[in-house]
Amino acid sequence: MKKVTIHELQKRKAAGQKICMVTAYDAAFARIFDEAGVDALLVGDSLGMVVQGHTSTLPVTMEHMLYHTQAVSRGAKRAHVVADLPFGSYQASDEEATHNAMRLLSEGGAGSVKLEGGEDYAPTIRRLVRAGIPVMGHIGLMPQQIHSTGGFVVQGRSEEDAQQIVRDAKALEQAGVYALVLEAIPMELARTLSAMLSIPTIGIGAGKHCDGQVLVCYDLLGMLADFKPKFVKQYTHLHTTISQATRQYCEEVRTGHFPSEEHTFRSMRLVSSTEEEPERANSVYGAPI
Ligand code: KIV
Repeated sequence: MKKVTIHELQKRKAAGQKICMVTAYDAAFARIFDEAGVDALLVGDSLGMVVQGHTSTLPVTMEHMLYHTQAVSRGAKRAHVVADLPFGSYQASDEEATHNAMRLLSEGGAGSVKLEGGEDYAPTIRRLVRAGIPVMGHIGLMPQQIHSTGGFVVQGRSEEDAQQIVRDAKALEQAGVYALVLEAIPMELARTLSAMLSIPTIGIGAGKHCDGQVLVCYDLLGMLADFKPKFVKQYTHLHTTISQATRQYCEEVRTGHFPSEEHTFRSMRLVSSTEEEPERANSVYGAPI
C-alpha cells in the first residue's frame, strides 16, 4: 500500500481538505488508526506522559523514541509516520540534530521528524532539510520548554507574544518545514497563521481554522478518566470500557467461568476420531502465526 507523502499532506491545504493526525505509540494502535484512515501518525514525545507516566515530556530519550517509532512504523501501512525529536536530541548542535533525525528515519522507519522551537531553530531546520530530512515544526505551547515558559499554558494571548509567534512561523516556513503544529494558541492567531502560510498548519488547542488537527490518542479515546483539558473531545470512553472488561475477566477467573471449554486445548489421546485436523494455536499475543 502506498504511504501518504509530505507532498500529499501539502496538497490537502491547496485542495481545502483537512489533514487528520493522531498520536500513536505502538503497532496495534497504529494499525487501527491507519485502517481508520488517518493521514499521519505522530509518535509524540507525549509518550513520556501517557505511556511512561512522567509529569512532563523531558525524560524521553532517543532510545525511547526509536523503540516506539519502530513499533508504529510496523503497524502503519498507509499513514505518514512523524517522529518527535525528544528534549536534548537537537538543541546542543546541528550535527547532533542531524544524526538523531537521521536515526528516526533510517532505524525508526519514520517519514519525517517534528521538533519544537521558533525562529532560533531556523538554522537547525535548514540543515536537516538540506540533508534530506523532512521536518514538521511545532510552535505555540512547546511542552519541552515548560521550565522557561511557565508550564502548560496558552501562548500568544498578548499582542507582543502573538507577534513573536507570527515571526516564528514565518522563519520556520522559510527554513523549509513542510507543515507546522500550532499548540494552545488563540483561534484568531491560528486563523491568521493558516491564511499567511503556504504550508499546512496542524492545530491542537488552536481552533477550527487550522489546515488539520492532531490529538493525543489517549485523550481522544478517553483513556485517562481524570484528565480532560478544554481542547480535547473524547470520542469514546475507553477507560470505562477497559475497566469493565477487566473487572469481568477477574470475576470469571475467580469464579472458574474462564477459561471454558472453547478456550481450552485437549490432549490428542482424548480428541475423538472424527476430529481429524489437529488443533492449532492460531495466534499468540495477538500476532498471527
Ligand atoms: O508529543 C506530542 O504528542 C505532540 C502533540 C501534542 C502535537 O507534540
